[in-house]
Amino acid sequence: MAPEPVYVKEFEELARQALPKMYYDYFAGGAEDQYTLKENMEAFQKIQYLILAYQLRPRVLVDVSRIDMATTVLGFRISAPIMIAPTAYHQLAHPEGEVATARAAAACNTIMVLSTMATCTLEEVASSCNAVRFLQLSVFKRRDVSAQLVKRAERNGFKAIVLTVDAPLLGRREADIRNKMVSPKVKNFEGVLSTKVVDDLQWLRSITNLPILIKGVLTREDAIKAVETGVSGIVVSNHGARQLDYSPATISVLEEVVQAVGGKIPVLLDGGVRRGTDVFKALALGAQAVLVGRPVVYGLAAMGENGVKSVIEMLKNELELTMALSGCPSIGDITRSHVMIEHERLH
Ligand code: FNR
Repeated sequence: MAPEPVYVKEFEELARQALPKMYYDYFAGGAEDQYTLKENMEAFQKIQYLILAYQLRPRVLVDVSRIDMATTVLGFRISAPIMIAPTAYHQLAHPEGEVATARAAAACNTIMVLSTMATCTLEEVASSCNAVRFLQLSVFKRRDVSAQLVKRAERNGFKAIVLTVDAPLLGRREADIRNKMVSPKVKNFEGVLSTKVVDDLQWLRSITNLPILIKGVLTREDAIKAVETGVSGIVVSNHGARQLDYSPATISVLEEVVQAVGGKIPVLLDGGVRRGTDVFKALALGAQAVLVGRPVVYGLAAMGENGVKSVIEMLKNELELTMALSGCPSIGDITRSHVMIEHERLH
């Protein structure tokens, strides 16, 4: 028996042991040299080019006898600013698939973003739990396919659409090529992706009143465009380093996007979040919440619904401790002044 995991990264090894190599590689891999994959996690600790660090600036003269991690995203109250990112094919990780993940989201009182490439249907996920659910949408060339998914999301009580804009074509994931990875039957998906994201966004706005977030922004230029098109939020993401290799680590561009958005809409972040301190850093740099991708899949592979719950709870516990030791009793108390990029000190 493998020892009980005590922090989130340990689920990766358990998942590796539980899964056929082809599936583990599919979940774990990134694009090409996997430069960005490594960066996403390491950048929470250092800034590559300057070899400087993100460090916390704790305040100790604060009453931290009660810590409140609750927050809201698009008006939905969640127990902590840690959400579940959309990842494909959960039944490759565990037979209960997205239904188990959704139940864990409900138990942890957080938001699950269901992937377009889910292996359970929207209806199965909706009827299995009352977690707040968003639907991640990839827009297909055949608009009727996308429109039908949006209608089903509306009918099944999904509260927002998360439009993924960084995957008009699939990144080159070499382990999958080597393994001849075959995709399972994807129940919500039958078509080819559209490559006209801007047109698609306008069109999407015309067919639904659900709020639309766009996922995959990494620059101030796109952040400004996104605000102009009237979206309800942005997810700073590089798709877990699975699309364009040598794109930057998300934590390193978060502030650029936050500044460009200027508080007009919420900014979320995913990519490499593995610790409560990572969540805290993202919040201090202006994110409203983070989303977690691979650790959720690893938790699911290792222990099903309970594994996903453990992953979220571990991150919450670590965030709670970080907030206490940094003198931030509530999420609103976490400010830019609670993190420093070390060169700021040198000036
Ligand atoms: C993803 N991601 C993703 N994103 C999306 O919009 N639609 C999808 O179907 C998928 N599928 C998917 C599968 C797998 C196996 C991974 C690892 C990732 C990207 C995902 O939403 C998120 O951006 C990253 O996973 C976040 O990085 P971490 O937490 O995995 O480091």
